[in-house]
Amino acid sequence: MSLSPSVVSLTSVVSALRASGCVFAEDEARLLISTARTPAELDAMVARRVAGLPLEHVLGWAEFCGLRVAVDAGVFVPRRRTEFLARRAAALARSGAVVVDLCCGSGAVGAGVAAAVEGARVYAADVDPAAVRCARRNVPGGRVYEGDLYRPLPVALRDRVDVLVANAPYVPTREIALLPAEARVHEPRTALDGGADGLDVQRRVAAEAPLWLAPGGHLLVETSACQAPLTVEVFARVGLTPHIELCDELDATIVIGVRRGADQTGCPTDDASDG
Ligand SMILES: C[S@@+](CC[C@H](N)C(=O)[O-])C[C@H]1O[C@@H](n2cnc3c(N)ncnc32)[C@H](O)[C@@H]1O
Repeated sequence: MSLSPSVVSLTSVVSALRASGCVFAEDEARLLISTARTPAELDAMVARRVAGLPLEHVLGWAEFCGLRVAVDAGVFVPRRRTEFLARRAAALARSGAVVVDLCCGSGAVGAGVAAAVEGARVYAADVDPAAVRCARRNVPGGRVYEGDLYRPLPVALRDRVDVLVANAPYVPTREIALLPAEARVHEPRTALDGGADGLDVQRRVAAEAPLWLAPGGHLLVETSACQAPLTVEVFARVGLTPHIELCDELDATIVIGVRRGADQTGCPTDDASDG
């Protein structure tokens, strides 16, 4: 049960949010009012938002690919731009496909793919216990593992993964200080910091990908437009056939690599980017 906007003062919530610098104060006020179950809970939520917590941490959920994804405080908030990664992963996964969401955070990408692809068998893993707890609520089937990259995955998945998707941290270390406080202060450093050039975790993801991908299987990672050519080199070096896809609408860049299949061409055979 949520509060009726007539019971509480929309105006006072909007004013409090606006005074604290919220740009979308009216939208946020409506979300807070519709999520709070009591006036006391609403007061507490407004206070947390005014103190600078990300809206999604205050609400306890984020919208992603049309789903309400649970996001606990301290867990990386799924970004709108990552919907492009999830949509492309879903487009490459056929019914019954084995899909792995590495560095899953809240499990938003895996949940998005599971919702879009009937019968997809989605596995997810993350090193952060708080993220794993969240992902277990979001990814249907409960196949969510805790540990470093591939280490916790069932060995039986080797050579059998059709779609391997990883929104690994890719912010170069020196740029962490430039991030908005909502990310810098309220999201864990392990979710953001990709090392000197931002590609440290991606390199490790790519290095082991050929061991887990089925022939013809795809690895997809999110990156930035300026890092994408480096990611392409990383993919090529481990024997994947890479290409870059862009989505202007979401300002998203991803790199997709194919493990060469039976025909040995490694050419992308699926539908082209919708970006
Ligand atoms: C940028 S966040 C992305 C989370 C989620 N995939 C999303 O798009 O919302 C990166 C995630 O990678 C996880 N991570 C970082 N290093 C890792 C590692 N070595 N093994 C597993 N997960 C890792 C972090 O805990 C964090 O949840």
